[in-house]
Amino acid sequence: MLLGTQRINAAGHLEIGGCDAVELARKFGTPLYAMDEASIRERCRAYRRAFERNHANSEVLFAGKAFLTTAMCRLIDQEGLGLDVASAGELHTALTAGFPPDRVCMHGNFKSLRELEMALDNGVGRTIVDSIAELNALNSLAAERGGTANILLRVTPAVDPHTHKYIQTGKIDTKFGLGIDTGQALQGVKIALECANVRLRGLHCHVGSQLLDTEAFELAANMMPQFIRQATASTGCPIDELNLGGGLGIRYLERHDPPSIDAFAETLFARLTENFGEIKQPLPKIMIEPGRSIVGEAGTTLYTVGPIKRIPNVRTYISVDGGLSDNPRPALYEAEYSAMIANRAEQIPDVTVTVAGKHCETDNLIMDIALASPQTGDILAVQCTGAYNYAMASNYNRFTKPAVILVHDGDAEVIVRRETLDDLTAHDVIPDRLRD
Ligand SMILES: Cc1ncc(COP(=O)(O)O)c(C=O)c1O
Repeated sequence: MLLGTQRINAAGHLEIGGCDAVELARKFGTPLYAMDEASIRERCRAYRRAFERNHANSEVLFAGKAFLTTAMCRLIDQEGLGLDVASAGELHTALTAGFPPDRVCMHGNFKSLRELEMALDNGVGRTIVDSIAELNALNSLAAERGGTANILLRVTPAVDPHTHKYIQTGKIDTKFGLGIDTGQALQGVKIALECANVRLRGLHCHVGSQLLDTEAFELAANMMPQFIRQATASTGCPIDELNLGGGLGIRYLERHDPPSIDAFAETLFARLTENFGEIKQPLPKIMIEPGRSIVGEAGTTLYTVGPIKRIPNVRTYISVDGGLSDNPRPALYEAEYSAMIANRAEQIPDVTVTVAGKHCETDNLIMDIALASPQTGDILAVQCTGAYNYAMASNYNRFTKPAVILVHDGDAEVIVRRETLDDLTAHDVIPDRLRD
């Protein structure tokens, strides 16, 4: 399976963004995250085209939690998308990159007072309020500043998507948002309307992640207009904006077949138009905040293959020079990946192996994958690692985080430098009493 600008070059090597993957590994070292700029831009444009074609009053925001660096913020800004951030650190990254704050949405189920202040003081476009306590806190902070906070209220429409249980967030049993079924969402709308320093612009919901069909989105597109009808009937106040979150899935494996962005948008707007028609209300501004489906397929992680352990009649392990610390998703969600030997990319995979990371845990990156006779020293390219890989990387076992490079038209540039061993100890402090 080849994704984005990936192809096999004359040397029989995997090429990404016009760059030979084996050459990238030699030049920048491994493990290495390579992000394909053309693929990211193409997905941003596909989203904007599809949404604007279906509804002029729509906005696409990139969910920064999937992959955020200052260079990524520049790309997203250039492509005209908004940005969804979920922490002080993500907001700081956006501001440092010069991303326009009025196109930023601030998320989080527990924003600290400092984070709320940061959002207010920097003129963040929308704060997505997750609870009534947060609503009151934001109202007081805005009042202290003599200003108004523009908010969306996050509600949970009790949609139960077919995805891994850890990435279902629109169900009733979730820490996020105010439940529609429990009456808390309506209560939240009423309280928001009473807050003098808060302006309720609309509603937000997010039903889940890595969704490979449109069913859960369609359920949300059925339930949200019903709730809007209920909310406007009981308060008399219009809801002008509806943010439907992210969640569209990607092709981690050949058998994964997510809807195209076009097909997804068509189906979503068909449902929304029908349902808003039924409640006799105009379609509000529709916002969407995809993460994975913008950056996931654009990322490839390159590793060097180390020791190979053959256990006769049981399994063959090939160890690579990364693992849990650069990609915790297999351990977290039993996530599956495709991979190939980058230096023999044209060779038919003929041996089934398990790719093991080098951490002191059951650190299996890929179980039972067919690869082309892997050997020590080969470069293994794991595909679809652009979302929630660098973003979730850790220093477990005191591993240094890999570099991130952006590949484009045959050029490769570092956008996050590889951590050094000294970076690892830079924040450590030895109390004086332990010095002797
Ligand atoms: C509120 C919200 N919006 C957007 C996203 C992005 O989802 P995805 O990367 O699946 O598109 C998430 C992911 O968990 C989320 O929680």
